[in-house]
Amino acid sequence: MSKLTSVCLAISIFILSGLNNTYADNAELDFSEFVDGKGVISLPKDFRKTMAHLGSWFVPTGEASGFHDVYARQVDVNHYLESGKFQDGAIIIKELRASSSADYTTGTNVSFSNATIKQWFVMIKDSNNRFPDNKSWGDGWGWALFKTDNHTVNVSMDYKKDCLGCHYPAKNNDWVYIEGYPTLAKP
Ligand code: HEC
Repeated sequence: MSKLTSVCLAISIFILSGLNNTYADNAELDFSEFVDGKGVISLPKDFRKTMAHLGSWFVPTGEASGFHDVYARQVDVNHYLESGKFQDGAIIIKELRASSSADYTTGTNVSFSNATIKQWFVMIKDSNNRFPDNKSWGDGWGWALFKTDNHTVNVSMDYKKDCLGCHYPAKNNDWVYIEGYPTLAKP
């Protein structure tokens, strides 16, 4: 092999391995259509129509009062039912809705969720600790909060301050209050 050929070969190997790395990095960051390369989380549109309903909570009084309706993609539900784990990229959305109550033919003081949305909470599973410098990511998840006046911006800047303390009781279930989700329970 001439000197020139081997230099060319070395350069091509260098370039190719660089390309390979780029592809690997992109694939690594391509784990969720709701997360960009910097870890910015967006709220999925139309999730009520396209995702599976995991379950609902009813909070009778206080700031968070009303129904907390929780959703995930069917693929994430299926994976959980098979493995008992949330797969990398799994997304969980919790929508808070105000409630009304009235007497119905089923009973008195029956509660139902009305049209007023209060806010949305989102968790996205990240098994690879992809964004160590982004304070919305850690402990295996990306954590986000969207308000109704601008549902394109995650207003939570630090999940350790805004989310984690309240999720401690669910730490052993990967921080998720799994008991509220009959859809994830084995039949
Ligand atoms: C005041 C306590 C509190 C805070 C603060 C809080 N959570 Fe939660 N979260 C809960 C509780 C309790 C549940 C389940 C019961 C309910 O909704 O009432 C829950 C449920 C959820 C769910 C549904 C899946 C699950 O874990 O059961 C998501 C998603 C969620 N929270 C995300 C967040 C994110 C993201 C933040 C921070 C931006 C956050 N939460 C802050 C207490 C809290």
